[in-house]
Amino acid sequence: MSNIGIFEFQGKKYEFPVEIGTENEIAIDIKKLRGSTGGIITLDPGFKNTGSCKSKITFLNGEKGILRHRGYAIEDLAKKASFLEVAYLIIFGELPNKKQLEKFENDIKEKSLVDEEIKDILDGFPRSAHPMGVLSALTASLTAFHSHLTDVHSEEEIYSSITRLMGKFPVLAAWAHAKNEGTPLNYADNSLDYIDNLLMMMYKIPTTPYKGNPVIKKAMEELLILHQDHEQNCSTSTVRLVGSSHASLFASISAGVSALWGPLHGGANQAVIEMLEAIKEDGGDVEKFINKAKDKNDPFRLMGFGHRVYKNFDPRALIIKESADAVLAELGVDDPTLEIAKHLEETALKDPYFVEKKLFPNVDFYSGIIYRALGIPVEMFTVMFAIGRLPGWIAQWREMRLNSEPIGRPRQLYIGETKRDYVPMSKR
Ligand code: SDX
Repeated sequence: MSNIGIFEFQGKKYEFPVEIGTENEIAIDIKKLRGSTGGIITLDPGFKNTGSCKSKITFLNGEKGILRHRGYAIEDLAKKASFLEVAYLIIFGELPNKKQLEKFENDIKEKSLVDEEIKDILDGFPRSAHPMGVLSALTASLTAFHSHLTDVHSEEEIYSSITRLMGKFPVLAAWAHAKNEGTPLNYADNSLDYIDNLLMMMYKIPTTPYKGNPVIKKAMEELLILHQDHEQNCSTSTVRLVGSSHASLFASISAGVSALWGPLHGGANQAVIEMLEAIKEDGGDVEKFINKAKDKNDPFRLMGFGHRVYKNFDPRALIIKESADAVLAELGVDDPTLEIAKHLEETALKDPYFVEKKLFPNVDFYSGIIYRALGIPVEMFTVMFAIGRLPGWIAQWREMRLNSEPIGRPRQLYIGETKRDYVPMSKR
């Protein structure tokens, strides 16, 4: 049986091929829709029903709460693999053997020194600058300091871009944090692994010897693995769209950082804590805020609840929730804001509005709680998300470029004024 979809309109029938993916998802290929129908297009604001590409990187099933990278379950990867092992898998398609992982790690370490002149750009920011804005700008500045990599076409050139970005991005993120804290800038220490190095750069100060905490490191590595890729979310679609014009990897990732910043997307982890603080300041009446979230006339939404795709539960949230409980117990954290979070979670999960609309805590609800318990400033929460998401953005950009996908250019349905004549000023 051929997979054909038929569209009938105004007495005419149009046939379109139907593609079936390896997980039996079904897609109507409408590449020829406009041409074969004399101009008909589809309309799907927010693209909830529209596939932008075919991809081999991540499969997620929102109804069943399934998330796999290159066929491997997120539950296994988060618990059994290292951050760079998962990054290698997501970017290149296979779990690395020992030799491949060592080479990838060493190539990244070799590129972890950041050009000193980037400090001049950092100095230009006010101390209060949000680190996501600083990170986006400093990432874009790599196009100037590595201009030979702004126009890449070979796999070797793309690999060189990738290892440079993987090496420098955590440094730029730590420098954005240091700007806010007023502390000296730390350089990468290549004797440390990727996560230890990141934590050292964020926390080390000259007056006291830096000592890592294995509990914090384990929680951070698991958290960042869980964030690595999530198919065509808002920021990843941004990276693909910008990259489709053949803009450089650095420029495309800078755009992805900006898209992730929004409170409806990656900025939700910061918005979760700000919401919890607001509830605490307001007297801690969780019910009052749940009723505000349910009130259609009130723009307030429960940050950290709901998801564009997951309509039952976010598998990452289940893994993080377990980790959050362990970290809070291990670190002996006794934080009234986190008590409000637990009360909010329990109440919302029983409330018919949230149950019926399947609005459950998402990855950002629990990651905000862990980051706070780890002592990370709230402005840095989304920066941590960006560090986690970097391998996924890179993988999706690389797949799009190696597949020579066309430049993205959606159409629109025009609903404005029809033709009218110019009115001279004297007659307005
Ligand atoms: C991330 O796409 C990804 O993969 C993203 C991400 C990734 O890894 O890249 O998973 C990361 O961005 C997670 C989401 C973080 N955002 C938040 O926590 C912000 C709060 N959540 C909402 O803004 C909202 O849930 C969205 C934006 C996440 C999803 O919005 P949708 O697609 O509009 O949600 P929906 O269609 O499922 O909404 C169904 C109903 C609507 O009401 P009705 O129109 O049916 O009456 O539920 C309501 C919504 O108004 N609703 C909420 C709500 N989220 C949805 N009501 C109150 N509080 C909420 N949080």
